Amino acid sequence: MSLEPAPWSRLGYAHIFAHVQQRAGLQLPTCIPAAEEGIARAMARAGEEDLGLYLGRLASDPGAFDDLLNELTIGETYFFRTHEHFDFLRHQALPELRRLRGPEHTVRVWSAGCASGEEPYSLAVLLMEEGYGHRMEVHATDISRAALAHAQQASYSAWSLRSTGAERMRPFLRMEDKRYVLASEVRHRVRFHYLNLALDTWPSPESGISGMDIIFCRNVLIYFTRPTIAAVARRLYESLADGGFLITGPSDPTLAGLAPLEPLLTGWGVAWQRLPPGAPRSAASAPPSFPIRAPAPATPFTPPPLPPLPPLPVAPPRPPTPPPRPPRPAPPSVTERLEPARQAMERGDWSHAAQLARAQQEGPETAAMAIRALANVNPEAAAAACAEATARFPLAAELRYLEAMVLLGLGRLAEAERAARQVVYLEPALAVAHLALGHVLRRRDDLAGALRAFRAAEELCAALPPDTAVPLSEGERAGSLARVAHNERVRLETMMTREER
Ligand SMILES: C[S@@+](CC[C@H](N)C(=O)[O-])C[C@H]1O[C@@H](n2cnc3c(N)ncnc32)[C@H](O)[C@@H]1O
Repeated sequence: MSLEPAPWSRLGYAHIFAHVQQRAGLQLPTCIPAAEEGIARAMARAGEEDLGLYLGRLASDPGAFDDLLNELTIGETYFFRTHEHFDFLRHQALPELRRLRGPEHTVRVWSAGCASGEEPYSLAVLLMEEGYGHRMEVHATDISRAALAHAQQASYSAWSLRSTGAERMRPFLRMEDKRYVLASEVRHRVRFHYLNLALDTWPSPESGISGMDIIFCRNVLIYFTRPTIAAVARRLYESLADGGFLITGPSDPTLAGLAPLEPLLTGWGVAWQRLPPGAPRSAASAPPSFPIRAPAPATPFTPPPLPPLPPLPVAPPRPPTPPPRPPRPAPPSVTERLEPARQAMERGDWSHAAQLARAQQEGPETAAMAIRALANVNPEAAAAACAEATARFPLAAELRYLEAMVLLGLGRLAEAERAARQVVYLEPALAVAHLALGHVLRRRDDLAGALRAFRAAEELCAALPPDTAVPLSEGERAGSLARVAHNERVRLETMMTREER
C-alpha cells in the first residue's frame, strides 16, 4: 500500500487513495490530477468537504465507496469489444470444450469486471448464435454497484454499439426514448452479482464462481497493483475448470509466471488455458512453482482493517521541477507523439487520453483520437469537439464519420444525417460511412434510403477480400462486415414487406 504523498497535492488524497487501494487493489493512477478531481467530485456528491471525515465515511458507507470507485476506475465498455476474442470463442474455445465435455454440457461463462453489462450480454448472444440455447450459464460480476444496476436495466445509448461487431446485438434491441433496450431473452441469461476481485472470497461454489469454462477478465487487471494482479491471476486459474479458457484485455498485464496457465498464441495476442490433466505443456507455459489453494469458503464482504488514520498535515511543497531533458536528435513523428494518448485509450483512460490528444493540437488524426476518447466520457463535449475539428479540417472523412456516430448516439438525427452524407460524399468507397448512413436513415424512418445505404455497404465489403480490415471499422474484416450489412438489409426488406401488406 502506498502512502507516498509526493504525487498528490494534499496528503489527504494519498490517504483516500491508499484506502481504495487496500480495499480494491487499485494501483496509483497515471494521471494524479484527474484522480484528485474525481475524489473531489465524489466528496461533493457525498456532501463532505473535509478529507479526513470523508475517509471515515468511506470506511462505513458502501455507497460512498462505490461512488468513489466509479470515479477512479473507468467502466468503459461496449458490445462485442475486441471482436477477435469472440471469434476465438466461436472458432477455437467452444469447439474444443464441446470435444472435451460432450454436446450436452452446459457451458459456464464468467465476465469478471463486467461494468455496465455489454460484455456478458455479448457473450450470451454469441452462445445463442452458436446454438447453446439453454445450455449456458453466464455470470457477470463487478465491484461497482452502480454499474451492476445499469447492467440489469440493460438500456444503452448508441455509443455502446459503436463497434461494427455490435451489429450482432441489433436483433435483440428495441428503441425506447432514444435508448436501446435489450430483449429479455438475452437479459435473463446473465446473472449479475457484486464481487470484489481483490478479495479472497472466490472462487467458491457459494459465490457461484468456480468450475468456469470461459472467463473474460478484460481491461480490469490494468487497474491493479502487482501483488493484486498475482493473487487475482491465481484465483482466476483456480476458478477455471480443466480445459477452460481465460481471456484478458489487450492492454492487461501478462499472466505468465503468475499461474500455471498455458499461453495460447493467436493472431491477436495471447489467450490462456487451464490445460486438461495429462495435456502436454508448451515450453512457454509457466512452471507451477507455487502451491494451488483449495477453493476458499465464501465469506461475507469485510474490508480488511485499515491502519489508523494519521493527522492530515499541511500539503508538503511539490518537488522541484526536474531539469529539462536534453534535446532530441529528431522531432518525434505524430504517431510517436500520440503514443501516450493511444495507450491511455487502450486502458480505457478516456479523460486522460482526450487531454493528451488535445494537447497535441496536431492534425485531423489527433483531433479524431481526442474525439474518440471524449465520446466515452462526455458525448455532448465530443459533439462540440467534432464541430470544431470538422471546421478546421473540412475534408477529413474520419472526423465527419465520428461526428455522425456521436450525433447518432445523442439522437440528433438531422445533424447526424448531414454528417453521414458528407462522409459518403468525401469517401464514397468507405463502407462504414454507408452503414452509418443506413442506421441514421432507419432511425429517421427513411426506410428506402436506409435500404440503399445498407446495400451500398454490403456491395463495397463484398468486393474486398474477406480478410481485409475495413477502414475506420475498429479492425472489422470485410467478410464479417458484409454479413452485417446483408443482415441489416434483409431485416429492413422484411420489415418493409410487412408494412406493405
Ligand atoms: C474498463 S471496465 C471493463 C469492462 C469490460 N470487462 C470490458 O473490457 O469491456 C473495468 C471494470 O472493472 C471494475 N473493477 C475495478 N476494480 C475492481 C475490483 N477490485 N473488483 C471487481 N471489479 C473491479 C470497474 O468497476 C469497471 O466496471
